[in-house]
Amino acid sequence: MTTRAIWTMLRVEEMIDGRKKGVDVRFESKTAIVTGAGGGIGEAYARALHGEGANVVVAELDEEKGRRVADDLGDRAMFVHTDVGDPESTDAMAAATVDQFGGIDHLVNNAAIFGDMELAGLTNVDYDYLDRFMKVNLLGALHASRSSMGAMRDGGGGSIVNQSSTAAWMGISGFYGLAKASLNFLTTSLAHELAHFNIRVNAIAPGPTDTAALNKQVPAEFKEPLVQSLAIKRLGTPDDHCGPVLFLLSDEAKWITGHVLAVDGGQITRI
Ligand SMILES: NC(=O)c1ccc[n+]([C@@H]2O[C@H](COP(=O)([O-])OP(=O)(O)OC[C@H]3O[C@@H](n4cnc5c(N)ncnc54)[C@H](O)[C@@H]3O)[C@@H](O)[C@H]2O)c1
Repeated sequence: MTTRAIWTMLRVEEMIDGRKKGVDVRFESKTAIVTGAGGGIGEAYARALHGEGANVVVAELDEEKGRRVADDLGDRAMFVHTDVGDPESTDAMAAATVDQFGGIDHLVNNAAIFGDMELAGLTNVDYDYLDRFMKVNLLGALHASRSSMGAMRDGGGGSIVNQSSTAAWMGISGFYGLAKASLNFLTTSLAHELAHFNIRVNAIAPGPTDTAALNKQVPAEFKEPLVQSLAIKRLGTPDDHCGPVLFLLSDEAKWITGHVLAVDGGQITRI
């Protein structure tokens, strides 16, 4: 009997209990990897997926943060030390996931250099820094997707959500926006390349969201003008993104692929 079959059997009773209590369990017996899930929005995704029944892999560079989240989730969660900027590391992440849970159904490419991002322009950013930044913020999603696609295909298909940003549509956002705009392109390209494996690839583009990382990036005096520029006049919360991401990952979105969904309180107008 495969590890996946054993997990499925063990979860049947819990699933029945969950349904009796009216709990939404769209990800029962599914396995999801969330990169950068040691805090902020990624942690909220890991908790939401776990809450809906998924086995969750917290794939995080910061060991202390990643372990804290996985330990707190407990049963059905595992921390895997991962550097998404390194394809060997994402290969090891995918292998550890399959070893533990028997397969991979969902991947959320959330990890990024963000809170500690250097303040520089495209014309003066250090090239070594830019190289590492692009390896993590852009290629990280490709590395993790390539590492996971074989297991998804073998399991009959799956879905991927990339974490973009409204910065992708703002000319002033420099190398951060360059990585996110390219991530949108990666999303549509991968959607086409992976559809025949029954793997869907979408992205969400959060607007300004109240996390420790955002608070490092945006000085206090800019917060209020930023909030006033939104149609819905408050910052987003990590929880605001969970519904949209779980929807895109789930079968409810079974004919949606290559889409970038703005979840931004009306920050961006695209016509
Ligand atoms: N907070 C916002 O306003 C906002 C808006 C738009 C988009 N985003 C995007 O949302 C995501 C999460 O943002 P956040 O605000 O929660 O920030 P965050 O800094 O808390 O989250 C990023 C996580 O990625 C991890 N990470 C960094 N490099 C990594 C690597 N090489 N391998 C694995 N993990 C790595 C970090 O340790 C951290 O836990 C990022 O992709 C960010 O660009 C955030």
